[in-house]
Amino acid sequence: MERTQVGIVGAGPAGLLLAHLLYTEGIDAVVLEARSREYVENRVRAGVCEHTTVGLLRDLGLADRLDREGLPHGGFSLRFDRADHRIDLAGLTGKSITVYGQQEIVKDLIAARLATGRGIEFEAADVALHDLETETPRITWTDAGGTARELRCDVIAGCDGFHGVSRPSIPAGVLTAYDHTYPFAWLGVLARTAPSSEELIYARHERGFALHSMRSPELARLYLQVDPTERLDNWSDARIWDELATRFSVDGDFTLREGALVEKSITPMRSFVVEPMRYGRLFLAGDSAHIVPPTGAKGMNLAVADVRRLGPALVALLRKNDSRPLDCYSEQCLRRVWRAEHFSYFMTTMLHRAPNADPFTDRLQHSQLRYTVSSAAAATSLAENYVGLPFD
Ligand code: FAD
Ligand code: PHB
Repeated sequence: MERTQVGIVGAGPAGLLLAHLLYTEGIDAVVLEARSREYVENRVRAGVCEHTTVGLLRDLGLADRLDREGLPHGGFSLRFDRADHRIDLAGLTGKSITVYGQQEIVKDLIAARLATGRGIEFEAADVALHDLETETPRITWTDAGGTARELRCDVIAGCDGFHGVSRPSIPAGVLTAYDHTYPFAWLGVLARTAPSSEELIYARHERGFALHSMRSPELARLYLQVDPTERLDNWSDARIWDELATRFSVDGDFTLREGALVEKSITPMRSFVVEPMRYGRLFLAGDSAHIVPPTGAKGMNLAVADVRRLGPALVALLRKNDSRPLDCYSEQCLRRVWRAEHFSYFMTTMLHRAPNADPFTDRLQHSQLRYTVSSAAAATSLAENYVGLPFD
């Protein structure tokens, strides 16, 4: 049987960053990932890094490429009733966000991990967790070569996302789940074209929400609210561009630049939290414990925030035999999680148009939008949540 201090399940932002934090403190970890390296490096997902996320990556020496290629943004636009209203993030909070693709962070973290000489077990199949309520939990899996493996750990970190194996390994009745589904999904595309605007545009339109984002000066990232049952086959490139043009239409100077679509996907929207984020010696971090709809751009940032607490708490246990920080881990994370849950719900319900939305809800949305862009207090509240609240 193999041995490590921390068994990490999942090589997304949470698992990879945790592995790095532990390495810098001299703690040994093994990272198991169900997919191939190529797959995880090319999975298109988040784009917005809170200033707190960027700060942590810089402190760890992991932000060289992010600082070179990331796009700092000091504001974004709320577009409704054919007009733009800028939310001046930098002016309102003194902070900004950075647009840098999640898969670029994942590439940087994988490179950093491999440079330490400690690898990642890609294509780990049949991962199963055992003895979680003991001080020697185990992980079994079948490796890429087809060999059955077994790893004994001091602690397991479940960083395997919403569909992973960690959360379902916790016996029934231990966790309380809070779940909310929305009657919409996002159809996301990556387009080979210069972005049509320097800043992100969150657009509310009678036909539904649309988001204009980007990945680089040559790559635009665009999203359309669609029905959760919608299929990609129904969306030809021409239909996507037509719908985007309609939803971004504005009185004033704006041309939607078109280009070849190099990626298309549909993501359902959901809010989900489990409490506590722990069972015995298993600690959940990131999407395995909570998910948010992407409208607030919080999912990846929450995963990073969890790990910022979990890393030092594991070090305290494994170096000093001090379990107190781990005992507070779930409670402390959940405070930030619930704030982000509320913010993501607020952004989502303010900007999306529910199918058969009643006129009352429509009026409330408009009132909220107008208040948000006309009151410094309301705009500041949105901005401070968006750039990332400080850690206490
Ligand atoms: P994941 O990234 O899901 O990583 C989990 C890893 O575990 C995966 O690599 C998976 O393959 C692996 N795994 C799963 N099961 C197993 C198993 N049984 N064994 C081993 N490995 C396993 N967030 C933001 O902050 N800002 C944004 O702008 C934003 N935009 C988004 C846009 C879209 C369209 C989507 C879908 C998401 C967006 N998010 C955003 C959310 C963000 O992508 C996630 O919150 C983030 O990926 C969570 O990281 P994680 O490490 O917890 O989980
Ligand atoms: C993205 O660029 O992918 C993105 C930006 C902002 C969001 C969600 C996704 O709110």
